[in-house]
Amino acid sequence: MSDPKTDAPKKLFIKTYGCQMNVYDSERMAEALGGKGYVETATPDDADMILLNTCHIREKAAEKVYSELGRFKPLKDAKPDLKIGVAGCVAQAEGEEIMLRQPMVDLVVGPQSYHRLPALEEAAGKGAKVLDTEFPEEDKFETLKSRPKAKRGPTAFLTVQEGCDKFCSFCVVPYTRGAEVSRPAGRILREARELVEAGVREITLLGQNVNAYHGHDKGLAGLIWALSEIDGLDRIRFTTSHPNDMDDALIEAHGTCDKLMPYLHLPVQSGSDRILKAMNRKHTAESYLKLIERIRAARPDLHLSGDFIVGFPGETDQDFEDTMAIVRDAGYGTAFSFKYSARPGTPAAEKVAKMVDPEVASERLARLQALITQQQRALQDSMVGREVSVLFEKEGRLPGQMVGKSEYLHAVHALAPADLKGRIAKVRIKASGPNSLAGELVGAN
Ligand code: SAH
Ligand code: SF4
Ligand code: F3S
Repeated sequence: MSDPKTDAPKKLFIKTYGCQMNVYDSERMAEALGGKGYVETATPDDADMILLNTCHIREKAAEKVYSELGRFKPLKDAKPDLKIGVAGCVAQAEGEEIMLRQPMVDLVVGPQSYHRLPALEEAAGKGAKVLDTEFPEEDKFETLKSRPKAKRGPTAFLTVQEGCDKFCSFCVVPYTRGAEVSRPAGRILREARELVEAGVREITLLGQNVNAYHGHDKGLAGLIWALSEIDGLDRIRFTTSHPNDMDDALIEAHGTCDKLMPYLHLPVQSGSDRILKAMNRKHTAESYLKLIERIRAARPDLHLSGDFIVGFPGETDQDFEDTMAIVRDAGYGTAFSFKYSARPGTPAAEKVAKMVDPEVASERLARLQALITQQQRALQDSMVGREVSVLFEKEGRLPGQMVGKSEYLHAVHALAPADLKGRIAKVRIKASGPNSLAGELVGAN
């Protein structure tokens, strides 16, 4: 409810950490609390409720939550009615411990139970400390209202699959998000249509393991083809995929479905078969490279992206060189690399005797990142002179400039009329900067 004294809406400040799925979840949490009279605010200072939507993937990410909470203490002291909530994967993994470490937290809600937020908020409003980290029977997406009709930007995320059954030995996701669940295709299509009606032109389908999607009888490829029939939806992307779930139909769709963009995030984690085995990845470096070859045969200009972990327990210099080699062989347009972080409850964290010296891991990370940056830069430079399609999203920093994304997900800016926002135009690339490309509208003077 809004404040009965002033009838002003209550203010909600949400801070989001972690992956795109958390970005999506934060939107849905804000929508759910919108039904209780909350509107979003950009700063915690005037908020009636602060929600941290957290990530547990690496130690640093999880620890950030506690330091952030500490910063809200003066706000809570000044305004005891302020409600502080922790949502997301740290909430799921650490639950009660959060309230013990930070007693000012009023509400803890896991990623599978946030549709119950309105009721939890009400209980917290009455002074209760509330914790809900269940994996409920009911489907949260069905309990959540349909998406509001408000006008949106040209791009949106849409969660189609959640959870993971792969149990890579380093990863907390199967514990924080639970078992793999796919949303039925019909409901996804409905949500996609709502988004398109609100102005969305590009949808990125999200899943922890999105290509394991099975809510359509023809899998993720079937869903993509069904979505591609929606008028006004111009672009489809998906992330994150696992190499073992790249089926033939999905590979083929990369070659034949015009609306599916030529960009694929396909993490391999390591180039060493020994380490891949210890990671429980159930694929080899060679099988991964063969797969990439098949995908590129379907779509030769595909930009590949990946994730790497260095310093996994037992990683030798040779194992690391194998990772450098696979980066060179696969030719990434972008890649993300992380230093291994031992996560409580995961099998790899128990290999205490095999832990890699943190300094060695840091050196390896620096070398890997230098190689990735060099490759990324070369690929980006090779775009100069080429014509790309840009979906313009917003105005740029300079007057008259618009910024958008190419089909390959490069940020591209060009002098363009403001009414190109939400539209796709051809742009010839003229220059390549560290984080973006500069171009000229084709046909423009
Ligand atoms: N579902 C996605 C990844 C989720 S986590 C997938 O399967 O690809 C994103 C990335 O974080 C992973 O790909 C991995 O590279 C990294 N990561 C996961 N657990 C980690 C850990 N314990 N230490 C360091 N990096 C980790
Ligand atoms: Fe984690 Fe592996 Fe599942 Fe990805 S596939 S979410 S890395 S367990
Ligand atoms: Fe982090 Fe949870 Fe996403 S651990 S990466 S927010 S699934």
